Amino acid sequence: MRTEQSHPMSVTSRFAIFWSFTAVAAYGQQVQAIGNIFKPRATPAESVYHLSLLVLAVCAAIFIVVAGLLTYALVRFRRKCGDHREPAQVYGSDRIEIAWTVIPILIVFVLTMATARIVSATLDKPTPSDALKITVVGHQWWWEVRYPAFRIVTANEVHVPVSTPTNPAITFLGLESADVAHSFWIPQLAGKTDLIPNHPNRMWIDPKQEGTFLGNCAEYCGTQHANMRLRVIVQSRADFAKWVAGQQQNAMTDVHIETGRSQFLSLSCVNCHTVSGTAAAGTFGPDLTHLMSRDTLAAGVVPNSVKNLREWIKDPDTVKPGSLMPNMQLTTEQLDEVVTYLSSLK
Ligand code: CUA
Repeated sequence: MRTEQSHPMSVTSRFAIFWSFTAVAAYGQQVQAIGNIFKPRATPAESVYHLSLLVLAVCAAIFIVVAGLLTYALVRFRRKCGDHREPAQVYGSDRIEIAWTVIPILIVFVLTMATARIVSATLDKPTPSDALKITVVGHQWWWEVRYPAFRIVTANEVHVPVSTPTNPAITFLGLESADVAHSFWIPQLAGKTDLIPNHPNRMWIDPKQEGTFLGNCAEYCGTQHANMRLRVIVQSRADFAKWVAGQQQNAMTDVHIETGRSQFLSLSCVNCHTVSGTAAAGTFGPDLTHLMSRDTLAAGVVPNSVKNLREWIKDPDTVKPGSLMPNMQLTTEQLDEVVTYLSSLK
């Protein structure tokens, strides 16, 4: 009887241990995936990094002093064997009270001033006339990225030029929201800035290293908040210019995918999505003109491949539960044609 009772317990605890490890492993991947604040690659992130080192150092010093005094008191004033007397009671020492009031005030003052200096230096940065200006609009649960000067609209990926000492390049980001509050966060490039409905915000970055920097929405915005991922692709000026030229082209028109194209245009996909150069001009969902030039689908949930694109269109909910893209209930034939067309949009 006893063994029977204890058996399910041990299975449960084994199960719990397994899930804890899985959760820790998944969390570890996620942390790696979104970049490390201790490896800053742009001025705003460097400022945050230096400030965090100061705060950590001050907190570590406080911890060492407090824990040291506590340990000393525990060891030094332990009750001796057979000694039942109450220790000497100390009340009201002006000197001690002044010390523990003034020192914390000074510490808080120093931290406040250091923070205020960095916040104002970051916020008050003047916009140079030649700076690249981008508008990022948060949607449940993806990012719309507009380059008004180039007449480009893309999604979930922000391409920017690299900033070098001889050729500095600053990108200003106007941040807006189409629905609820979101927060733009690329840990290696800058701190978090909220995207609030009817309240445009702004931030800037000057990435000093080429590469892909990952981030995530940092303000809870609904079911798929954690899957509202974002990537900033920092390129050399030449590569960036090439990317801009490619994105400015109208969508591909290949005679081999004409059936797929007319199939796509006949469906209600066009009410939410734009494909430039066609009748599809919806703006509720991401612009699909150069869909296959992007690394991921569904805001970073799966790699962008023909197979994943097919799964995504077939039933968006299996890829991203709660997604606002509806299941269009396409027949296998319709699905094949639409996928053939969309996967041609390079
Ligand atoms: Cu968008 Cu959280």
